Parts: sequence; structure tokens; C-alpha cells
Amino acid sequence: MLFVLYLQASNSVKAMQSFREKLPAFQMKAEFLKAVAENQVLVVSGETGCGKTTQLPQFILEEEISGLRGANCNIICTQPRRISTISVAARISSERGENLGDTVGYQIRLESKRSAQTRLLFCTTGVLLRQLVEDPDLNHVSHLLVDDIHERGMNEDFLLIILCDLLPRRPDLRLILISATINADLFSKYFGNAPTIHIPGLTFPVADLFLEDVLQKTHYNIKSDFDSFQGNSRRKRREQDSKKDHLTALFEACSNIHTLSHEAALVDVDIDSTYKNYSASTRASLEAWSGSQLDLGLVESTVEYICRHEGDGAILVFLSGWDEICKLLDKIKVNRFLGDPSKFLVLPVHGSMPTINQREIFDRPPPNKRKIVLATNIAESSITIDDVVYVVDCGKAKETSYDALNKLACLLPSWISKASARQRRGRAGRVQPGVCYKLYPRIIHDSMLEYQLPEILRTPLQELCLHIKSLQLGTVGSFLAKALQPPDALSVQNAIELLKTIGALDDMEDLTPLGHHLCTLPVDPNIGKMLLMGAIFQCLNPALTIAAALAHRDPFVLPINRKEEADAAKRSFAGDSCSDHIALLKAFEGYKDAKCNRRERDFCWENYLSPVTLQMMEGMRNQFLDLLSDIGFVNKSKGANAYNQYSHDLEMVCAILCAGLYPNVVQCKRRGKRTAFYTKEVGKVDIHPASVNAGIHTFPLPYMVYSEKVKTTSIFIRDSTNISEYALLLFGGNLIPSKTGEGIEMLGGYLHFSASKSVLELIRKLRGELDKLLNRK
Ligand code: CDP
Ligand code: MG
Repeated sequence: MLFVLYLQASNSVKAMQSFREKLPAFQMKAEFLKAVAENQVLVVSGETGCGKTTQLPQFILEEEISGLRGANCNIICTQPRRISTISVAARISSERGENLGDTVGYQIRLESKRSAQTRLLFCTTGVLLRQLVEDPDLNHVSHLLVDDIHERGMNEDFLLIILCDLLPRRPDLRLILISATINADLFSKYFGNAPTIHIPGLTFPVADLFLEDVLQKTHYNIKSDFDSFQGNSRRKRREQDSKKDHLTALFEACSNIHTLSHEAALVDVDIDSTYKNYSASTRASLEAWSGSQLDLGLVESTVEYICRHEGDGAILVFLSGWDEICKLLDKIKVNRFLGDPSKFLVLPVHGSMPTINQREIFDRPPPNKRKIVLATNIAESSITIDDVVYVVDCGKAKETSYDALNKLACLLPSWISKASARQRRGRAGRVQPGVCYKLYPRIIHDSMLEYQLPEILRTPLQELCLHIKSLQLGTVGSFLAKALQPPDALSVQNAIELLKTIGALDDMEDLTPLGHHLCTLPVDPNIGKMLLMGAIFQCLNPALTIAAALAHRDPFVLPINRKEEADAAKRSFAGDSCSDHIALLKAFEGYKDAKCNRRERDFCWENYLSPVTLQMMEGMRNQFLDLLSDIGFVNKSKGANAYNQYSHDLEMVCAILCAGLYPNVVQCKRRGKRTAFYTKEVGKVDIHPASVNAGIHTFPLPYMVYSEKVKTTSIFIRDSTNISEYALLLFGGNLIPSKTGEGIEMLGGYLHFSASKSVLELIRKLRGELDKLLNRK
């Protein structure tokens, strides 16, 4: 029996070996190893799927094991995402016929599989950055591979600045930078013209169709389809007729757009003034690609066209977000022109879905079934679906951007970059020649940016600033000036100001003891402060739960057809608290109770909760608890009760939320029968429709704290909690006496509270005591 198992295992290693040898990276093995031996820094680029991530670290490992230094090497390969960190380590272990955690292991926040034998460790970039606190010269590392740097994630850009300074101190360290698209030169220059190796791709040709070509094809065929439906029911004909009108309008618009200038075609906001000479239907169609809405009808017609007129092969559709995926999924399911529904396997993929683990997406579908994958840009480079022959690219992605002037995160669908378009196109043609249907005119493609803006220019910087301070890398401004593309001064200043407001930095921009504590908690500084306050004010459990949800993601799922039921479930958790945070706290508590009775699966199913997220939150809570104990805010030997005296007092929990989320405050003001919400920076804002507070007209308390303010179709606050002025007075940052001497002001005078001298004095005393507690060493 054992022998049979052994034979099976060794056969699978053999099969893997022959798979490896067919990868384009394999041809470059000798050249790669020579370059690693001869250079301190090497940049490697190549198409997605050519074997960079799975093969390059393995080549070094094999070389080192077979050589004299064998036992001494310590190879680290960073990944931007948790998903790929685990799956790649698992893949390499099985290629080597070993157990995960032996020679090859991984480490991500909360979870690791490694041992004393581990020589090749995959970790997220965030994990490596935290290791730098203890080991600033990376003395335990022999080879460092930084993967997927072309994505320009904030952590990767940050790590590259540090490495630039570190390399001269570690002449024996080998650094290998891995990039997918061909902007390798940028990184090579950054490291003093480091040598580059390019792995040529082994792909089939992919034909490019721009909107004008797509329309010509589909328009023509829809017409002939229409004729063949002559004998069919009236309803089908009417549907087909309206589709034809829509495509005709687009067709007209498409011919017109060529007469417009590049800029006019790209400026989202100016549609009305630029296009006012066009007919209403042309304008509506133009908005489909110039505005923020996606033309799903066009996407649907294109998928329909491929299914009816093109040969076999999986279709990969790139959409800009989960909303569109759901809508298109619904449309395709009822589309009668596609024919027999049993012939299609329609699969949604989205970064925050557990389905990412489903083999279905990667596996070949059963014979006679066509696989249609609906994805966001996660399928651009982090996952590879081998059998894709047709790519349908809507040309947009929901991208975050940071408006430093208004201290506002924006999340709007915008045009992707040329590099992304190339990546998307490259997803076809991995097994046979492919076709890429680009649902935007060529002129739009020509005016796209070469590359997406790096994350460091699109995100608030407070966590990064805190990190720079804790690694003692000098002043934030001068350190960040050394980045590949430095963020602007205002974004840096906003981050510093925020850190001062919450008390993490002093006036000299040095870390306070509170700031030091916040550095050790691997979460946004606001969430970190909420944890500390939870421990101090003895409502630790709620603080741990809410912090875990805010740092990871909330456990409420987005069911495709049962939105109303899901909303109702969330509201029932919130009760009359007027708080999304309380809703998620109660959901988690319900899950824990259900778990004691071993019915957590049913509980999650009935209440539209994600068991995976809740389980993840449990793990994070434990980790937060360990960290709080490490920095002396929790003494585990006292037992949980000592820290949870007020955990069921929801007013107290809301006050702790206020302490953590400050200065994210809005004022609730009565406007007739409704309530309107105002912030200091941008004036009036709306409650996000997914919030339990959406649609409520009257609130018991005058203020609201929120986790996040985002601009989509309007400016929304997400996850809000109604709070009293006392919570703000005691726990909000920076009190100043009002100019008239009759009270106190906050947020630079935006919020005013009347108070007598003695009350004012009392509040100051209490706040002073609290400061001492937060800043204890
Ligand atoms: O890093 P790069 O995109 O160049 O490719 P890779 O991740 O090293 O993957 C090389 C090939 O291995 C891919 O084409 C996949 O077919 C295969 N692979 C797999 O089957 N399962 C994984 N977990 C990872 C890779
Ligand atoms: Mg890779």
C-alpha cells in the first residue's frame, strides 16, 4: 500500500517536472542563475503565467541546496496579496513532492506554515516590512525576491526605498525584482541601472477589436439574427429590435467620436457641454464610455455574439465592480438568445469572494459547456485562467484615488491604463489564438495613461507615515521624496496632521508613547486607538470585534438576488442603536453563540453572513489580544472579565468608537422632516445606502462618527454610528476654548459646545488622566 502511494506521488512529481520544463522561465534558468551570482540587484520581467513566481525562487533554492552553502541560504519572496502567498507556496511544495512548511513555507498576518527546515519563505510584503523593525539589515536573509512590483502597491514602493538604502550595508544580499509588464526599465534605473532579464512569453496571437470593429461585427450579425427570428414570437422580436436600436445609436456615436479631440473624449465631466450638439441617444451612448456608468447592454450583446458566432473557448469578461458583475450575471441568466442555459457555466470572480478558491474557475468545463467568467481586475495578473480564448474588456476599473484637498477617498470607475489593457488582452491566447473585444473606441485607448498611478499617490498616508517613524527612517517628507514617484506634500501633511490629532505624533513630529503603541498594532492608527481605548475602558470584546471587521472586511455578504432580505438581517442586528458597528458586533456575537451550539453554518446562511470572514475575524481578535498583552495594555492572567465590565453597555461601546474614529465626525442637522449630515471638510454628505442608518429620518443623538468617507456617485459616509456630544467632548482630539470663552471648540472651531467654567475644568482633568493612560510606557 505504502509503495503504491509512493509510486503515485513520484508520478505526480514527474508530471509536474515535465510541466515545469515547458514553462518559458525554464529556458532561462542558467542565464538567470548566472545573473543572480554576478549581480547584487537583478530585474526580471515576463508575461503573466510564464513561470516567474513559481520557478525563479525555486531555481535559487535548487542551486543553493546542490551547492556548498546549502544549509545556509534563506530565500524570501514577497507577494502583494495573501491569496497568492499561500497558493504559490503550496504549488511549489507539490512541484517538489514535499509537504507545505518543510523546505518551502509561507507567512501572512495571522497565519504561517514554516519550520526549521524552511529555506524558501513566501510572505506578504507587509509581513517583511514588520520584520524590518527587529532586523533592519535583513541579516537573516540571503536572497530577497520582490514579486509583482509592476502593480506599484504602496508596500512594495515603500520597501524599494528602504532596500535602496540597505543594499550598501549588505553587499552579500541578493535582490531580485520581478515585474509582469514591460516597465522593467523604471526599476532598473531606480537601482542604478541594474541588469534586466526578460523572459519571452509563449503565447498565441490575440486579435484586437476596438469598439468600432466590435460594433460592425455585432451590428451586422444582430441584423441577420433579427431576420432569422422573423418567424419567432413578437416579444423576442421586440427585444431584438430594441437591442438593434441601442447598437445603432452606439454605432453613430462611435463614428462621431473620431471627429472629437482626444481630450474631449476623455473628460468625464464635460459631456454635456462638449456633446450638446448630438442627438439624445448618441449622447446617452457616449456617456456609456465617457461617464462613470458602464454600458452593460453592450457587454451582454458582445457575449451573446461570441456565444452564437464564435468557436469554443472560455470567455473572460472584465467589469469594473461587483455591482456590474451581479447585474450582468442576472442578465445572462435570463438571456434567451444565448440558447440552452445548461450549456453555460457563468462564474463571478471578485477579490473579496471566497469563490476565489473554487477550482471551477481554473478547471476546464465539462464538454459542451462554455465557461464565462465575470471578473474585476483581479483576473488581470494575480490569477491565471488557462483556457480563456475570448476576452471582453469594458476598459474600466474601480480605482481608489485620494483627494488631498478634501481629505477624501474616491472610488469611481475610471479608464484603465494601457498596461492594464495589455494585461487583460494577454489573458486570451494562452492555449490557442484568441480575440480581445475592447468595448471602447481606439481613440480612447490611445489617450489612456501608460501605467496606472501607483498606490502611494492614491491613498491616505497615515499608516505609512507611522511606519516610517517607527523604523526611524528620518523625517517623513525627506524619506518619501526618495520614492519612485513621491506623493505630494499636501498628502504627507494631511497624514502628519491626522497623526497629531489622534496623539500619535507630538508637535515636533516625533512619535509619542501612544504613537509607539500604535506602531505595534498592524492596523490603521485610528483602529489601533480604538483597541487601546477598549482595553482601558473595559469593553475589550466589542473593541476587538469591531477592529477586526474594520481592518479586514465586514462579515455581511452581498447576495446577488436577495439584497432586501440581507439588508433586513443587518438592520435587525443593529436594533435601535443607529449603528453599523453595533450591527456587526451583534452579528459576530450571534455567530459565537451559534458556534457553541454547532449551528454556525445555518446561522450564517440565515443572516447573510460570511463564515469565512467571521472565522478570519476570530483569528484577528486573538492576534490583537496578544499584541495588546505584549504592550502591557492587557494582563491576560487577570482573565477576560477584568476587561469586559462595560462590554454590554452600548453607550460605552459607541463612546469607544468615537474615540477611535475621531476626527471622522459629521453633524446631524434637522432639515424639515429629514436629517442632513455635514462634515467640516466637504459640507453635506450622504449616508451610504448599505448602512443601517440609510433612510432613517430622525436620530436620537446630534453627531455621527464613521469609518470611511468615499466619493462614488455622491459623497457617502460608510459604516456610521450615532453618538452623543459627551463622547466627543471626552474622547475627541484637540479641545480649544472658544473665542467668546463660553465653551469649547473642536475640529478647528467647526464644532462648538457651550459649557460652564467648572464643567470645562472637569472635562480637561478627565482628558488629562486619559492621556496619561494612553501614553504609559
Ligand atoms: O508568476 P507568473 O505569472 O510568471 O507565473 P506562475 O505563477 O509562476 O505560474 C506558472 C504556471 O503555473 C501558470 O501558467 C499556471 O498554469 C501554473 N500554476 C498553477 O497551475 N497553479 C498555481 N497555484 C500556480 C501556477
Ligand atoms: Mg507571478
